[in-house]
Amino acid sequence: MQINDSAYSAAARRKAAALATWGSARILAIETSCDETACAIVADGRHILANRIYSQIDLHRLYGGVVPEIASRAHVEKIDVVVDAALRDAGINETDIDAIAVTHGPGLVGALLVGVSYAKALAYGWGKPLIAVNHIQGHIAANYLTHPDLAPPFLCLVVSGGHSHLFRVEKDGSNTLVGCTLDDAAGEAFDKAARQLSLPYPGGPELDKLAETGDDSAFHLPVPHVDRPYDFSFSGPKTAFVSLVHTFVQRGEPLPTADLAASFRKSVVDQLVSRTMQAMHDLSEKRLAVAGGVAANRLLRARLAAACQDNGYQLYMPDVALCGDNAAMIASAAYWQLMRGELAGLELNAQPALRMG
Ligand code: KG4
Ligand code: ZN
Repeated sequence: MQINDSAYSAAARRKAAALATWGSARILAIETSCDETACAIVADGRHILANRIYSQIDLHRLYGGVVPEIASRAHVEKIDVVVDAALRDAGINETDIDAIAVTHGPGLVGALLVGVSYAKALAYGWGKPLIAVNHIQGHIAANYLTHPDLAPPFLCLVVSGGHSHLFRVEKDGSNTLVGCTLDDAAGEAFDKAARQLSLPYPGGPELDKLAETGDDSAFHLPVPHVDRPYDFSFSGPKTAFVSLVHTFVQRGEPLPTADLAASFRKSVVDQLVSRTMQAMHDLSEKRLAVAGGVAANRLLRARLAAACQDNGYQLYMPDVALCGDNAAMIASAAYWQLMRGELAGLELNAQPALRMG
């Protein structure tokens, strides 16, 4: 089929301009950056009409982590199914969709390409504007779905498998980096510690569950020094944790897994909370949001809630169901981009190492 790129682009720009003037849009979003094949339909960046997620966890568990080739193949097999299911759940068809959004990075390149190619085909075939969303921007936007009153500016702690960042989300929706991890991301550290305890993949939530039954003062892990006050570092505590576990194994003693999990979780959460609170204080911020898979961590949620209450800060956290990867958050982020006129063209490609703009 001959693709008439310029005719599509001109029509898409006209439609996007009309939607921005109207201030309203029903967006169908696709997310395939890692191991969830997801499609959602969201109205005006706030109201979820459908939110389908096909999780590949069972496919990857056998290998103890995400296998990129298996992830790409499963996305190809399931993407049609989740898109059809989302349309059915919302009780609408393509004529009721105003725009198509897709995660174009960061993530696994093969996995991203499935979503990007599919979204481009939908946008072109249905004649709808296309919006390219940064996955991390999506995680932040999950807060807009849970809290209808939330609007920037605010400080946001982004904690996922690949990120531990503090951003200031500015009034115009842009982000200013305030701090970040110097080595591992918090989720990555949780996953590695969980593997030491032979917990199944994905390790973070399993470690969180196990930690609930342990004594978090049983073991002391080092507090890493960082030169800049709002940066994080998790490789020191992780290495100390690994050698602690090895000591038990070498002595032939049973692992006190719950106490180890609780002590490790406390050390990660202590660091996240203390440095975030320091930034809130120093930058005179009053509102804090949290985003990313690790935002589901029970201790992190409880400790941030307590610290924000003590300091008179307003805390925003996504519903636990919206902390992990999903397409509703991508549709929400896309809505604000559409309102600002930020459209993608059919030349859109996956950007596995995409950074926050
Ligand atoms: O945001 P996400 O779903 O995917 C990425 O964009 O990375 O985050 C996944 C990460 C994994 O490292 C997972 O173990 C961690 O979030 N995670 C948790 C919890 N739930 C998910 N870590 C600690 N406690 C949890 N409850
Ligand atoms: Zn994610």
